[in-house]
Amino acid sequence: MAVYQHFSTPIVRRLRRYLADINDGFNEAISGMAVIQKFRQQSRFGEKLGASSRVHFQARMQTLRLLLSLFSAMVLCGLLIQFGFSSVGTVGAGVLYAFISYLGRLNEPLIALTTQHSMLQQAVVAGERIFELMDAVQQSYGDDSRPLAAGSIEMDNVSFSYRDNQRVLDHISVQVPARGFVAMVGHTGSGKSTLASLLMGYYQPDEGEIRLDDRPLTSLSHQALRQNVAMVQQDPMVLADSLYANVTLGRDIPEDEVWHVLEIVQLTALATALPKGIHSTIGEQGNTLSVGQKQLLSLARVLVKPPKILILDEAAANIDSGTEQAVQRALRLIRRHTTLVVIAHRLSTVVEADNILVLHHGETVEQGTHEQLLQRRGRYYQMYQLQLAASEDEPVSAI
Ligand SMILES: Nc1ncnc2c1ncn2[C@@H]1O[C@H](COP(=O)(O)OP(=O)(O)OP(=O)(O)O)[C@@H](O)[C@H]1O
Ligand SMILES: [Mg+2]
Repeated sequence: MAVYQHFSTPIVRRLRRYLADINDGFNEAISGMAVIQKFRQQSRFGEKLGASSRVHFQARMQTLRLLLSLFSAMVLCGLLIQFGFSSVGTVGAGVLYAFISYLGRLNEPLIALTTQHSMLQQAVVAGERIFELMDAVQQSYGDDSRPLAAGSIEMDNVSFSYRDNQRVLDHISVQVPARGFVAMVGHTGSGKSTLASLLMGYYQPDEGEIRLDDRPLTSLSHQALRQNVAMVQQDPMVLADSLYANVTLGRDIPEDEVWHVLEIVQLTALATALPKGIHSTIGEQGNTLSVGQKQLLSLARVLVKPPKILILDEAAANIDSGTEQAVQRALRLIRRHTTLVVIAHRLSTVVEADNILVLHHGETVEQGTHEQLLQRRGRYYQMYQLQLAASEDEPVSAI
């Protein structure tokens, strides 16, 4: 055991590190699944995990080979001591066979019992989980892979529920021309993010239809949908990689363009303060960044290659008013090529929208421009007055 320990310790240490790499990889891939799929990085992550698994396998085989050679050496020594140097003289094949088999019988059951019992238990539990996952319904896409030409959106009487008889969206109709700017406001849980998920094609509406450029969303291929429709989420995913890799996400984008978008989202100061600039590594889950900085980073990701339709779900919720104004300026630039769908609680973000949809329990209760909705003195007017009163110290920038 001492000899085994001496030789195996360095290998086992390496093994642990490899196992941690595999677990980290899985953790990152699973928790960041949405981002990975959105930017179609499945194969890159698959290869990375494959490489970690291979080195882990090789190290594990090394320990097993070591154990096997030591065990063989022990048996050989036992044979030599028992029969080689004793005065018994010649030993019959039967005695030799019996000796070896008894030696084996001493160890085998003990080892086999402990390892196989725990393996069996793990396998049963793991198997149940894997089959549950394999039996789950898969998201389906169409096969029309032509890119979107303009980026207009049309929602026609769209209704949706996650579970039976619990309507989350109720007959929503809206038309957004190409390069238009539509905003969605409403109380928490009113269905704004659900509407964004439908636009991303994550779920199919129960009733009605969504059309992008007059083409049904369901007919678009995976590639056409993901390359043309992008979303910046409320809680962005940050990889434990460099700032540069976090912005490009495997796409071929030159460094100066990355610097350019970092300037637009006002992250240049952060990037230059880091020891290796944009090549400095950001901690796991972006824990060295503030939530606002993470939101700006995920905005930078879509700004380097603007899609035809951009959905911002509370993308400016944790950003200070000054930075928000810079982001607004960036969005005004983007609108030359992109249709904007903005979900916001902070109404100052949406005053410039061509059309504001006020959602209440999944229904559109009001619709119009900021001025029109203020004149109506309805729900939007109330929300606006409440926000004005709440931000007396920090006046709403757009008044
Ligand atoms: N995956 C889900 N499964 C079941 N119900 C869900 C799911 N996601 C959201 N819901 C429910 O659907 C309703 C609408 O949720 P949604 O996330 O669209 O609200 P929201 O308007 O975006 O709210 P917020 O302003 O807080 O982001 C809520 O009542 C919520 O509980
Ligand atoms: Mg939401």
